Amino acid sequence: MPSEIVFDPYKDLYSKSVGLIRSSEIRDLMSVAGRSDVISLAGGLPDVTGVPTSELSSLMTRIIEDGFAEALQYGDTEGFYNLKTQLVSLMSEENIKAEEEHVLITTGSQQALDLLARIFIDPNDIIVVEGPTYVGALTAFRPAGPRFLTVPLDDEGIRTEILEEELRSLTGARPKFIYVVPNFHNPAGVTMSEERRKHLVDIATRFEVLIIEDNPYGLLRFEGDSVEPIVNRIPERVVYVGTLSKVIFPGIRVGWVLAPLPIHEKLVKIKQSADLCSSNLNQMFACAFLESGLWKKNLDELKKRYKARKDSMIEALGQYFPEGSSWTNPSGGLFIWATLEEYLDTAKMLPLAIEQKVAYVPGSAFYPDYSGKNRMRLNFSYPTVEQIQEGVKRLGKVIRREMDLYRSLGIGKK
Ligand SMILES: Cc1ncc(COP(=O)(O)O)c(C=O)c1O
Repeated sequence: MPSEIVFDPYKDLYSKSVGLIRSSEIRDLMSVAGRSDVISLAGGLPDVTGVPTSELSSLMTRIIEDGFAEALQYGDTEGFYNLKTQLVSLMSEENIKAEEEHVLITTGSQQALDLLARIFIDPNDIIVVEGPTYVGALTAFRPAGPRFLTVPLDDEGIRTEILEEELRSLTGARPKFIYVVPNFHNPAGVTMSEERRKHLVDIATRFEVLIIEDNPYGLLRFEGDSVEPIVNRIPERVVYVGTLSKVIFPGIRVGWVLAPLPIHEKLVKIKQSADLCSSNLNQMFACAFLESGLWKKNLDELKKRYKARKDSMIEALGQYFPEGSSWTNPSGGLFIWATLEEYLDTAKMLPLAIEQKVAYVPGSAFYPDYSGKNRMRLNFSYPTVEQIQEGVKRLGKVIRREMDLYRSLGIGKK
């Protein structure tokens, strides 16, 4: 990452919207967290070490040899049709009923969020997000200049009773959409319960609001039963966003949006202006990997690894984190969300943690107003069990030291 630019001779030229973008704290952090001597519990990287590389290289060779004329060309903006068929079948694994004509393939689901911001948000429009929410959604939505209405979540997902109250108090105004990550939330790790989903659907219907259901982690369930997707309940009010990043690997940059046809049409137009089409080569590769069925074996292996790592992190948190801390216990996905004593500030504490060679993401990154100061996101998909144990132990020490310091100043429990 280049060093910070102090003088920018071009500053008068930039648009207002670029001024609304703050560099993601996660990205800034990666440069330090990625150092080999730092145990990183910070990133959101899936473990790609188990992918069957020799099979992958045969698939790629076959695409280049047999399908090069298509693979090396521009493709349809909507996406490679056979891949759409595979994605429809992948969605059916989560009981989602979809048809190809509603699917737009995007360059990662991050692009889907960016396109959605462009077609829906005007400056000062209200949009609803969960508190905390996915940091990449904030970076996608912010340049459009919305007013964020943040609704807290708990172990059962978004607090729909608060959402309802908030919407009722917006007399005359209607949010453009409600953005939720219902399964194994990033960063909170929680899954929206059946009751909350029902209530959310009821609210969206009564208040005539769209829902964006962002579901990168649904297939990464390693324990418990799945809950019916929101899109099945009111498809006409839901824009569903999916990705292969976490169930296959992120390097191919394949995501998609499943939307009602009028919205789909707008998304296709705006994608055309963004990048004409996603890479044909990558789409054909993703399609071949899905067709081969190899992804299932890979996913089963990933789930086993992630469960072992999550269990290890939960155990380490219990052993090393001080009294007064709490954390979520996800049944899938990549993240645990920890809450420390209220007076602690995890952003201020981060340099101390990095000094002790461990990194996490401070909670404030996940709130539009940068609150959530006493919280942190911990990733368990990428570090090994040994690194998790050592990393949480180091982190526990840093937190205790910080608490001692506050106590010596008369803050916190003696
Ligand atoms: C909730 C959520 N949505 C979207 C994305 C974007 O993923 P990608 O662009 O790799 O598909 C991520 C990545 O971490 C995520 O956690």
